[in-house]
Amino acid sequence: MKLLTTKADLGAWLKTRSSHPRVLVPTMGALHRGHTSLFDQAREVAGAGGDVIATIFVNPVQFGPNEDFDAYPRPLDADLEKCQAHGVTAVFAPEAPEMYFPDRSITVNESRLSTTLCGASRPGHFDGVCTVVAKLFNLIQPDASIFGEKDFQQLTVIRRMVRDLDFPVRIIAGPTVREGDGLALSSRNAYLTPEQRTEAPLLHDSLTRVARGIAVGSTRSPAEAVDFFRKEFARASLARLDYFEIVDSISLTPVTSFPHSAPRLIAAAFFGKTRLIDNIGLPS
Ligand code: PAJ
Repeated sequence: MKLLTTKADLGAWLKTRSSHPRVLVPTMGALHRGHTSLFDQAREVAGAGGDVIATIFVNPVQFGPNEDFDAYPRPLDADLEKCQAHGVTAVFAPEAPEMYFPDRSITVNESRLSTTLCGASRPGHFDGVCTVVAKLFNLIQPDASIFGEKDFQQLTVIRRMVRDLDFPVRIIAGPTVREGDGLALSSRNAYLTPEQRTEAPLLHDSLTRVARGIAVGSTRSPAEAVDFFRKEFARASLARLDYFEIVDSISLTPVTSFPHSAPRLIAAAFFGKTRLIDNIGLPS
């Protein structure tokens, strides 16, 4: 496995590669089974003859001033071992100054999908994500790139960027990997106290109960679903709900009635300072 830390080395290495498809998995590191499942999926897409390129970069421009950029874990050696064990061909792991000029003045601005859900409480976050992903697409020129459904709004925003800016990249969704009790794997789960960790699976549990209610017809409207979710999630006594919404999977606009072709149930909650997110579709 090749480790590259500068744009120049990355470019020189890519020139030596004629293998296709080239599949990119961007990450911020602190890799867990959620990430490695995306590497496995990327290897399946790439086949034996293609390249899987992972990036490990804690992207400063997607963090707000009071967010956890400095505290974000950076276990590079352990991450590289995981990449190697999951069939990654090369890792691009630059430092921030390699990616951003001090006087940079151009960002990718997404102005519709980013205004709701997580975007409402994280101004500039999705512009930061779009900017770094656009740069990675330009630097690496992948045929396909994989993003986890765990960050559903991010996946939707990236699809929109690719559509609106004509990036010739196929975006593939990776299913959410969970702990046995349903908690979606996240690097931020490490911040939870044991008591918070015990209650954290209630986020997924409440989403699942509401989705089932909608699927069987006992929950008849989005308003009823919101009430149902609040009641279920009230069992998490240590949590503060940030939002619960039922949105269209492509436009992220609120679903106003059932049935709906592709509703997504999406929620965020604070356990202390730690903000957890989760989402699910309806069972088929
Ligand atoms: P990061 O949080 O490291 O996540 C990298 C990728 O792993 C994302 O596509 C995310 O959706 C996926 N992922 C995280 N937890 C997962 C889980 N439990 N199951 C499946 N996939 C999971 O998301 C980012 O980094 C950044 O915003 C990035 C896209 C790299 C841009 O900086």
